Amino acid sequence: MSATPRSSPLVPRSDTSRGPRTEPLILGVESSCDETGVAFVRGNTLLGDVVASSVEQHARFGGVVPEVASRAHLEELIPTITRACQEAGHRLADIDAVAVTSGPGLAGALMVGVASAKALAWSLDKPLYGVNHLAAHVCADVLDHGPLPEPTVALLVSGGHTNLLLVRDIASDVVELGSTIDDAAGEAFDKVARVLGLPYPGGPHIERAAADGDASAIPFPRGLTSRKDLERHRFDYSFSGLKTAVVRWVQEREAAGEPVPVADVAASFNEAVADVLTRKAIDACEEYGVHDLQIGGGVTANSRLRAMAQERCAAAGISLRVPRVRLCTDNGAMVAALGSQMVQRGLAPSSLDLPADSSMPVSQVKAE
Ligand code: KG4
Ligand code: ZN
Repeated sequence: MSATPRSSPLVPRSDTSRGPRTEPLILGVESSCDETGVAFVRGNTLLGDVVASSVEQHARFGGVVPEVASRAHLEELIPTITRACQEAGHRLADIDAVAVTSGPGLAGALMVGVASAKALAWSLDKPLYGVNHLAAHVCADVLDHGPLPEPTVALLVSGGHTNLLLVRDIASDVVELGSTIDDAAGEAFDKVARVLGLPYPGGPHIERAAADGDASAIPFPRGLTSRKDLERHRFDYSFSGLKTAVVRWVQEREAAGEPVPVADVAASFNEAVADVLTRKAIDACEEYGVHDLQIGGGVTANSRLRAMAQERCAAAGISLRVPRVRLCTDNGAMVAALGSQMVQRGLAPSSLDLPADSSMPVSQVKAE
């Protein structure tokens, strides 16, 4: 957990010089998993973006512990709001609307953000927008590359989600084409890292180990790509078979008393994940006649995934949009960005009764 000045005032200097004055100023609050995120967005311009992560508190458990995450949000939310105000040079009184992640995510964690955002909106007498976390991930890209071409196919890959989406209107019309039927891609990185004796979260460690390995050394399976599987699961993913294949391969080596070539296993595993993720995303673009692919979520930090997506998109005549890594992981900026899109389109705010909905479907972009 990052240290934050608890005594600093919530009312820093007001600076209205950044971002066109006419566009509403949106405060975004994110608390669906292990990152407490608060940010200010005016139009499509990011003005301040602060994230406090509790990832270190979960490391020894090998995954996010919901109760630990909820308590960390409680402790970090107000200091994070204070720091975001300072970074943006705005006071809470400057805000025109509040946006908050309504779901999906961990119920207790979501509740902290939702209750806080309701209190802010009510006390400031400003509209409140409850937004879908998955759509917000896609919307983060607007802050780096401007308005999203519509339609866009979006591939979302993180520790909690793996979804292929057709985005017809980022504020109101998002369709799920497919998702993982078992583990999320990031979860697979984390589990395979554990098998290889690498720390949590595993993605960056696998990537580092893979740099010295041969990606074609071991032909690990590509989940749901056989002709039969494609009939039912053309745009779905599966990573648990891949994880099991890695475990078996490593165990057989160990049982035979042979050393485990960690770099080759990591590189071959990374290759299998990047291959199946990009293959299905491009297939979705072609099937729906979409010329733009956007990739987001923490796994997007993976350089092999980025390079393979770039290569394959170029070959297929598809333009690829990938936001900077900081905007790919969970943050308040993406939530403020999606709230801003809703305000720009004149959508009605959510009710102050909006729920923390742990299983909010992506087809519901805004909470009622
Ligand atoms: O989006 P994120 O920060 O949090 C959520 O899960 O919502 O994603 C975290 C996931 C973890 O599973 C982590 O292992 C993975 O993203 N990750 C990576 C890399 N950096 C983070 N996976 C592969 N390669 C990376 N460089
Ligand atoms: Zn996320």
